[in-house]
Amino acid sequence: MYQQPDQYGHFGIFGGRYAPEVLIPALEEVEKSFVEARKDPQFEKDFIDLTQNYSGRPTPLYFAKNLTKHFGGAQIYIKREDLNHTGAHKITNALGQGLLVERMGKKRIIAETGAGQHGVATATVGAKLGLECRIYMGIDDIKRQRPNVFWMEQMGSEVFPVEDGMKTLKDAVNAALRDWITNVGDTHYLLGSALGPHPFPEMVRYFQSVIGKEVKQQIKEQAGKLPDYCIACVGGGSNSIGLFHEFIEDKDVELIGVEAGGLGVEANDHAARFAGKNSGIGIFQGYKSYVLQTEEGQIDKTHSVSAGLDYAGIGPEHSHLYDTGRVKYTYALDEDVIKALKLSMQEEGIIPALESSHAFAHAFKLAPTLSKDKVIVVNQSGRGDKDIFIIAEALKDKKWKDFLKTQSK
Ligand SMILES: Cc1ncc(COP(=O)(O)O)c(C=O)c1O
Repeated sequence: MYQQPDQYGHFGIFGGRYAPEVLIPALEEVEKSFVEARKDPQFEKDFIDLTQNYSGRPTPLYFAKNLTKHFGGAQIYIKREDLNHTGAHKITNALGQGLLVERMGKKRIIAETGAGQHGVATATVGAKLGLECRIYMGIDDIKRQRPNVFWMEQMGSEVFPVEDGMKTLKDAVNAALRDWITNVGDTHYLLGSALGPHPFPEMVRYFQSVIGKEVKQQIKEQAGKLPDYCIACVGGGSNSIGLFHEFIEDKDVELIGVEAGGLGVEANDHAARFAGKNSGIGIFQGYKSYVLQTEEGQIDKTHSVSAGLDYAGIGPEHSHLYDTGRVKYTYALDEDVIKALKLSMQEEGIIPALESSHAFAHAFKLAPTLSKDKVIVVNQSGRGDKDIFIIAEALKDKKWKDFLKTQSK
């Protein structure tokens, strides 16, 4: 039986709670509240009600007939997490933790964001529940995901620019942790991925595992069997663990996580925590896991075309699943991600987020090598509207550039 984590938040040797003393009472409070809520049928009812009637679950599982035909191999099914309210899987976790905030009686929430999808989801929950909300975001991510910054601010949240370090997701997490330490009495840190100190990895998995539960039922109805492959992109690891968790015991289902290969995994222009040459086990932002690091053990720089995968650490459960071999991890290069995105738009009229397009890129590599009776489920964790500036630049769309010039007058 797969029973992870243990009571101290360890997934094998990974995970745990490596936090400053001042945060321990807050982490214990979150854990207590989460453990109690899980046993409370009313909490489950409220969570289901919000995810269904506010966010639109269950999200569809769509048979991508044209892409399947295009590759002439395995059947490709797409789990449409992009059709959630706010356009990504992140809202599910934000709603779940929002309900916990109400139980704990906290008045203020903070969050980190890279692609801005978790920021928008948290800002949404803040507006809905009437909570004061501050989102930490690296200034490089603010520039590349501007549309999401606009919406967060319109919903009444403060977007706090983080200028330290790489000015991306890792630095936003550090800034959020510093805020939590200072304001621990009235504030909840609504962490957006399956990482950080215990109980966050387990708690975020709990909320996101609805993805895999739905897929299991939907694929049985549509394909008449379990999938042969489940594929998801891995930033911190929440949409992937949400898809995989339900299938861990189904040994015939191959689970594949796709990291950001960036410009290539040889140097440090990537965020491939398993394939990268500069990766090793370390303790980072409250948990033990594989981390991209320099020879001296400092956090190394990362690169990805997608802000949401541009992160040096990885949720601890993934490190455990990697070491035990239950999940296979690979990576997709920036250039293949853009190609996959273009093909999805042209064949299916679907615009996956750059993060999700990593999973698509690997599915497209795999599908033609398999026979037609095989079934692949690929998780479309979010929609690509937020990426319009990066995509238009990558596709060298002159008309868009001309349009931007007229707007800046
Ligand atoms: C659409 C989308 N997919 C995936 C990710 C990566 O996060 P995770 O690995 O936690 O799913 C993000 C992060 O911002 C995202 O916005």
